Amino acid sequence: MPTFQTLPGFREFYPEDLARRNFLFRLWRQTANTFGFAEYDAPVLEPLDLYRAKSGDEIEAQLFSFTDKGGRAVALRPEMTPTVCRLVGAKASALKRPIKWFSIAEFYRYERMQKGRGRCFFQFNADIFGEPGPEAEIELVALLVQCLCAFGLTHEDFFVRLSDRNLWFYYLEALGLDPERARGILGAIDKYEKLGDEAFKGYSERFGALTPELKARILSFLEIKSMTALETRLTDIGSEKLAARLADWKHLLDALEAMGLSRFVEVDLGVVRGLAYYTGFVFEAFDRKGELRALAGGGRYDDLVEKLGGPALPAVGFAIGDMTFALLLEQRGLMPAIAQGPDVYAVIGGAAERRAAFADIHALRAAGFRVEYPLKEVAFGKQFKAGAESGAKLALIYGGDELAKGVVKIRDLGQRNEFEVPRDQVLATVRDFFSRG
Ligand code: HAM
Repeated sequence: MPTFQTLPGFREFYPEDLARRNFLFRLWRQTANTFGFAEYDAPVLEPLDLYRAKSGDEIEAQLFSFTDKGGRAVALRPEMTPTVCRLVGAKASALKRPIKWFSIAEFYRYERMQKGRGRCFFQFNADIFGEPGPEAEIELVALLVQCLCAFGLTHEDFFVRLSDRNLWFYYLEALGLDPERARGILGAIDKYEKLGDEAFKGYSERFGALTPELKARILSFLEIKSMTALETRLTDIGSEKLAARLADWKHLLDALEAMGLSRFVEVDLGVVRGLAYYTGFVFEAFDRKGELRALAGGGRYDDLVEKLGGPALPAVGFAIGDMTFALLLEQRGLMPAIAQGPDVYAVIGGAAERRAAFADIHALRAAGFRVEYPLKEVAFGKQFKAGAESGAKLALIYGGDELAKGVVKIRDLGQRNEFEVPRDQVLATVRDFFSRG
């Protein structure tokens, strides 16, 4: 046992783990590019105040925070949203609209560890700034779905629960609750699925117990799981704001249907999101079997850029976490075994042959081929074994006889045949072999 171990909830990535992680990142990056999102990055350590009273009590309690040597209160970033708001806010007038940005980065939260939850994890974040209407949500829900489908997942594996904090606020207002009480109710609803009635305890302590009638009306709204149910309900209530909001809902769902994505999206007012800054549509992605925690979450946050000192700028975004996502891919057999073997393995006779081999090895590497060779002189037999085990497609054999003839023997390790080529033809032959796939 080594003396020092990783801190609880922290992760080490051995090469095969890193290869899997890179596989996720590569496909997310490619997908974001196809949607026209530009990549950015930012510091991992931020002023503590960036998160205070902005991300919400839950995240604030989970911060890894400390005082640096300059006496500043700092925190490891628990999420990207406040940071990206600062970046965009600082240059908002110079940025071409719509501002569509993404990042892949590591985050830290002092959470209770469980399956799919750690204290450090990666997220793919995508956000659109400057678009007040549901067009931004259309683009982002479509991107979220494609970021999962790119790996071979289908609507049978996951779905997106779509809800709306605006709708909740208008509804609670129609029920006679002021904004502060409404926020208290949303806090309870966020935990209702997990805690049941217990979720309302904090609200009751602050504002007094809800009357049974009010509670029943709240719980029945929470159970709305279709557009038809939503429409019926809103017509019953008859609020103008609610009716106008329905038009946004229809626009969003209609566009997603046109993209062929209806199968992935479900209306579910039970989702309200725990983060404090969300203002409108909110959504979360889950595995269909309901075995894992959320795969992704996001929504609209129209006030945050301004709250952080920037201009008033509407915004929507989401983040996919790498941990639950990797678990889902593994469960579905969609995490590929990632081959890391070389293209070419050089089998080398003695010291004289080594000099000749080195010239070719370096030229092949410079041309982009992955080439390995035994760092020390070892018996031919061992080298052939190592070459075969390495996963290389070709072995280049530099023996004394070959060099005397001015040739190199090339063995196709898959077909198990051999042929000789003049030394000055090695690069061209290898190139030709790999271009044929
Ligand atoms: P979030 O719901 O806190 O949202 O996190 C998004 C995703 O990150 C979760 O669904 C989960 O997959 C992953 N995640 C969160 N915490 C952990 C953890 N402790 N361990 C492993 N995975 C975790 C946000 O972070 C928002 N900032 C997303 C956003 C972007 N909203 C607008 N733009």
